[in-house]
Amino acid sequence: MERVKMKTSYDIKVNKVTESRIKTVDFDNLVFGRVFSDHMFTADFVDGEWRNCEIQPFGNLTLHPASNVLHYGQAIFEGMKAFKHQDGSPVLFRLDEHVKRFNFSASRLCMAEVPEELFCSAIEKLVSMDRDWIPTFDGASLYIRPYLIGTDGYLGVKPSQSFKFIIFTCPVGPYYPKPVTLVTAEEYVRAVKGGVGEAKAAGNYAASLLPMKKANELGYDQVMWMDAHEFKYIQEVGTMNLFFVIGNKVVTPKTDGAILRGITRKSFIDILKHKGYSVEERAITIDEVINAYKAGDLKEVFGSGTAAVASHVSELTHKGFKMVLPPIEDRIIGNMLKKEINDIRTGNISDPFGWIQKL
Ligand code: COI
Repeated sequence: MERVKMKTSYDIKVNKVTESRIKTVDFDNLVFGRVFSDHMFTADFVDGEWRNCEIQPFGNLTLHPASNVLHYGQAIFEGMKAFKHQDGSPVLFRLDEHVKRFNFSASRLCMAEVPEELFCSAIEKLVSMDRDWIPTFDGASLYIRPYLIGTDGYLGVKPSQSFKFIIFTCPVGPYYPKPVTLVTAEEYVRAVKGGVGEAKAAGNYAASLLPMKKANELGYDQVMWMDAHEFKYIQEVGTMNLFFVIGNKVVTPKTDGAILRGITRKSFIDILKHKGYSVEERAITIDEVINAYKAGDLKEVFGSGTAAVASHVSELTHKGFKMVLPPIEDRIIGNMLKKEINDIRTGNISDPFGWIQKL
């Protein structure tokens, strides 16, 4: 076992695989989240400090059966991506924003925050080691999944005092390989102001499974979440934030405490403003969208997310009224954003925003 002293005060032990599994992977047919790279990072928060920082072969975890995460769901995560530039160098996209949001989520779920230095050096080291796993075909990347779980073996409902911080990575293609169909929520809600909708809490995703299953049974891909009080204001999709192109304006629901503060959402707003588009972050009702559709002004609907990147919405249904949106090839803004963000991340164009970090 080799011990590597990073440019950090955290000492990260490295235990490499004896043989890489990379040769067994079919990189031409990657399904999102099914293939895992050789190594993972783990660290424990015990007695008020981070210990046992280690990169080790990807494998199972051992947990106390009463671990807080297994009973009360004290768990948060992030999703971020690494790419390869044409010269073969691996790069990370907006690591600083992801560490901030991770610790925002940790604090909302009453968990120990992970020091920025530890979070960043663990990701940098892990991705550098598994750089051969970064796929380079169009739309592909290495998806990085940092997560934090409460590990106290205790059934009392109180914040865990011990935590495990884990990071693994997956070579991925697009999360949505084709445009998605959405149906507005009429019965279930995702989040309310004051709840945990703004955090990347694992429980948000568990709560969305039944509504999503019911939507799937009716032939829709995903649920478009509405505000919890009036079912009138559009929130997000859960796996992505939403953008609407109405006439010549781009409108996205303003984050209000119940909507995830998407990093891709924020990046799209910055790209749009940089290119001189008018972007409105404000409350948007389903009635406004329906009226725009009826007037022929609803040009595009798309989602934004780390996994989803820019995913076109082909159909949107509200209370049985189906809006069939314009053909994908006519979508100027969604297609431009998808290309622009991919070009910045893969180094095809220079990064005017300082979002890319070379490893
Ligand atoms: C991401 O875009 O990274 C997400 O968190 C969505 C994920 C649940 C697939």
